[in-house]
Amino acid sequence: SNTTFTMIKPDATSKGYTGAILDQIIKGGFSIKAMKWTKLTKEQAGAFYEVHKERPFYGELVDFMSSGPIVAAILEKENAVADFRTLIGATNPAEAAEGTIRKNFAASIGENAVHGSDSDENAAIEGNFFFSRLERF
Ligand code: GTP
Ligand code: MG
Repeated sequence: SNTTFTMIKPDATSKGYTGAILDQIIKGGFSIKAMKWTKLTKEQAGAFYEVHKERPFYGELVDFMSSGPIVAAILEKENAVADFRTLIGATNPAEAAEGTIRKNFAASIGENAVHGSDSDENAAIEGNFFFSRLERF
């Protein structure tokens, strides 16, 4: 069994989708190891997405991710990283499979409801960005 990291993004929290998204995550077989409701500053969002800083949408992404509350969580399941990316669907909701979280709740490629780590290594880095040892179990 292993872990991944997710955020429910500001578009989804502001539309009142937090509960429905958490419900789909839990029904998808993930258990919550740590969770918090918070809001990123521009500096914090910029640091979290530093790997994307050369991409043309970086400024937009940082503005968006600091525009409202998010929910950050560490999730546990066997094959967590890959299975969670299957559950959320393609980055662009127009290309996301039926029944995926992004198909159900996302509006656009930028405002796409949820984040999911892309590797075990990044899952650990991202979880550590938000949670201290005392906040996990
Ligand atoms: P995350 O789980 O959020 O990391 O999404 P991803 O792995 O499916 O996509 P990627 O890591 O390539 O991009 C990170 C985030 O940048 C995406 O989830 C989007 O929010 C945003 N993004 C990606 N492509 C675009 C784009 O073309 N335009 C805009 N505005 N945002 C984008
Ligand atoms: Mg990514």
